[in-house]
Parts: sequence; structure tokens; C-alpha cells
Amino acid sequence: MSPALAKSAENLKNETEDYHKGVKYLHESGIQRVPKKYIFPISERPKNAINGKQQARKEHNLKLPIIDFAQIHGPNRAQVLDSLSYACENYGFFQLVNHGIPDEVIRSMVDVGGRFFDLPLVEREKYMTTDMTTPVRCGTSFNQTKDGVFCWRDFLKLVCDPLPDVLPHWPSSPSDFREKAVAYSKETKFLFLKLVEAILESLGITTKNKTQNNEMLKEFEDGSQLMAVNFYPPCPDPDLTLGMPPHSDYGFLTLLLQDEVEGLQVKCNGDWVTVQPIPGAFVVNVGDHLEIFSNGKYKSVLHRVLVNSLKSRISVASLHSLPFNSIVRPSPKLISETNPKRYKDTNFAAFLEYIKSCDSINKSFLETRKLT
Ligand code: OGA
Ligand code: NI
Repeated sequence: MSPALAKSAENLKNETEDYHKGVKYLHESGIQRVPKKYIFPISERPKNAINGKQQARKEHNLKLPIIDFAQIHGPNRAQVLDSLSYACENYGFFQLVNHGIPDEVIRSMVDVGGRFFDLPLVEREKYMTTDMTTPVRCGTSFNQTKDGVFCWRDFLKLVCDPLPDVLPHWPSSPSDFREKAVAYSKETKFLFLKLVEAILESLGITTKNKTQNNEMLKEFEDGSQLMAVNFYPPCPDPDLTLGMPPHSDYGFLTLLLQDEVEGLQVKCNGDWVTVQPIPGAFVVNVGDHLEIFSNGKYKSVLHRVLVNSLKSRISVASLHSLPFNSIVRPSPKLISETNPKRYKDTNFAAFLEYIKSCDSINKSFLETRKLT
């Protein structure tokens, strides 16, 4: 091999290894252009990248329905449930304000998440694995063993149940990480249960029979919870890549906390529209399991993440669903002669098999569950 060839082979090898260290590492190494590995096909690129072009972006901002959760136990409960239903049917997304989680718990989670990503790579590397079944996992892109094109995201995923089993595996550095993440996971789980109660009622599934309702809620109490802390460092070419490719979330509901930096986009009437961050609010979205459970009434909608050249962005997604081994199926109460069952029964195992096997750009688990 000529010295020049050997040199470029060496560069390529180093680069390939570097991809697995994540995009924060790449950013800090001072790269001026995104490597080829991150360049999306033209049709998949964001048309209006966030790099200061306010003008181009304006009309693509979306005002998601805002649900004021403080009203849920007051005299306006019926209206709140109607708005909830409207949002889940027409957007698959809403912003939740006055949700009752103390500001301090929220701020601490974003703060400690940020400090985790500030740790030296050697510290974060301890958690890097492609094994999807571990209680804690650091990684990059979407599905780094399968993705042909990488996205501009690093993540830390934490399995949250059963807490006594998983907690000893969670990062012990920063020293307050576990304390802050536990407080946050407990609060979001509690809020999720309150939301499920409201959602079941909005679907007309709850009955006058308290015991039956409690049984249903009990299953969610024992349900699964996964938290993902997403870190998107500044990107030199934000119009060539994405922080996350278009995807829907697999669970029942996702509670997403985004910092003040824009990035999340939702597919709405065929257009990608940016979700304006509201400080302290949650962006809540319907996942695949709720679409199936509601027999298609509530929509699990595609969303993606744009990156920008100036600021890092952090988000914390808390994904909730039924217990890992439960079967997810359309609620019998929502099936009738005029409204037949529209989805096959499914479970987590089927989902995991599916994502392991496919490139994230072409991912649509839900499509594989539809009965035609
Ligand atoms: C997710 C997700 C959006 C964001 O974690 O599934 O869609 O803004 N995150 O980070
Ligand atoms: Ni998502």
C-alpha cells in the first residue's frame, strides 16, 4: 500500500472508531464540517434548519394544544377531557402546563443530565454498549449498530423499573445523579398515571365500577418506564443532518422535557412544524401502544429533531407503557361491528425484535401491526 493510501485508510479507521464515541466528542474535537456518515439523503434533510434564519422558520412554528392540568380536578374537568381528546386525535401531541411537578425537580434533572454529558469520555464510556437489554446505556445516533446514516445525538437511557434492581446500575457520577434522576422518574411516573386516568376517561373506557377501573390503572402502575436523556451538541452543518430521524414512540405516552432551545418537529398535515418550548411544560405525545389500545382513535405521530450550529440542546424523554410482558391490544370497548379491530395484538418483545432488525430511517413498527 502506498503511504498516502495507508494514511487515508488509517484516517478512515480512526474516524469510524470516533463515531462510536458520539457527537459530543466530535464537536469537541473541533470538526468544521459534518463527516459523511451524518449526511442524510437530500429528501430526508431539514428544509429549514435552525441556524438563525428566523424568517424562514416563522410560519413553521406550531402551537400545540395546551392542556392545563390544574383544571382536571375542578369544575372544568369535562372541557379539559374534551381538549385532551381533541389533541390526541388530531395532533397526537399536546403541551402540559400546571402539571404539579415542582420546578426544582425539573431543573435539577436537566442540570444533572447536562453535567453527566460534561463528564470526560472515559467516564461515559463505561456505559457505552450496544446491548439493548442493560438497565443503563450510553450511545449515539438512533440505533448505532444498524443506522446507515448516523444522527447528531448522544443519549443516556435508564430503565426505571423495578427501581431497587436497576438503581445500583445507574451512573454514580455526578454524585447527585441518582438522587435527582430518581426524584424525576418518580414524579413523571405519578403524572403519567394521572394522565392515563384522564385518557381512559376521555376514551369512554372507564366505568362507574371503581374496582374495574382500579384494575386497569393497577396494570399501568406496574408498567414499564424508560428515561432517555438526549444531548445534541452544536453541529457545523445543521441543514445536512438530523438530531433524530422521523420516528414514533413505541410506548403508551411519552413525557418530554425540552430545554429552551428549539429542535423538536412534529409531522402535521404533511408538514414538519417546530414545537415552541414552553419553560417548565411537558410535551406529551401518544405512542404506538396507545394508538393500538385506542383502536386508532388517538394517533402516534411522527416527529424528528433538528440540530443547530450555535447551541447544545438537552431533552429528557420519559416513556411509559404497560408491563414488559403485557399484551397490547385494542380495547374491547372500542371495537364494534361498525368499528372493527384495526391492529394485531402486540408486546414489547415483538417491538424489540423489530427495531433490532431495521434501519431507523425506514422504521415504522406501527405499520407492521395494522390489520388491513
Ligand atoms: C425521543 C424524542 C425529542 C427531543 O426521545 O423519542 O422524540 O426533542 N425526543 O429530544
Ligand atoms: Ni420520540
